[in-house]
Amino acid sequence: MRLFVANWKMHKTRAEARTFAEELGGLLGDSPPPVELSIAPPLTALDAARDALGRWSLAAQNVAAERQGAFTGEVSATMLADAGCRYAIVGHSERRRLFGEDDALLARKLERVREAGLLPIFCVGETEEERLAGRTEEVLERQAGALAGDPKEAPLVVAYEPVWAIGTGRAATVSDAASARSRLAELLSARRDLRILYGGSVGPENARELLDCGVDGFLIGGASLSASAFARIAGIA
Ligand code: PGA
Repeated sequence: MRLFVANWKMHKTRAEARTFAEELGGLLGDSPPPVELSIAPPLTALDAARDALGRWSLAAQNVAAERQGAFTGEVSATMLADAGCRYAIVGHSERRRLFGEDDALLARKLERVREAGLLPIFCVGETEEERLAGRTEEVLERQAGALAGDPKEAPLVVAYEPVWAIGTGRAATVSDAASARSRLAELLSARRDLRILYGGSVGPENARELLDCGVDGFLIGGASLSASAFARIAGIA
């Protein structure tokens, strides 16, 4: 089933999360589209989003690489599962770029996610500089290497998110997204249950053509802050 994940990043209070959920519920009505919707709110709004969302799943935007202990400010995979999360986003480019998360750290985060019974949404994608240097495939291959120790039979979601397309209003072209998708499918051909999402400036206006490139859904930032834009994207599927 197609998966649409709303990544709210550092946006929305608890009250705003409730309002969003009510609006979304109203817009989708009693016969919501046959797709899986997941919301990744900030940690403080997980409860509010969970209580209001009901039938839609919750995702964590990040997860600690350690199991527990003296790691001020960190939240473990077990805690996120306990708070009702089904998914955890691992390796978002903002975590890689702004917080220095590297492939080795992400591999450890993946282990914690599996131990806690969460499903990873593993993000990969090249920077503008890497793309211009013709290194997209090489970067995807290196980043996918962090999945080497991840059990092949376990369900996996990978999000192709070119860094230059995130928050810029400049989505990948259908042909770029399609070739990255095929490369990832090839690199991960041993996986039994794989869904590949696209992320980077997805909105109601380009969702249809981007879906046609063969992806299994989207990871959506900016447009997911509006219940009506998110509902329109979900409705397109
Ligand atoms: P965007 O963000 O939709 O605002 O480009 C996507 C993401 O960061 O997951």
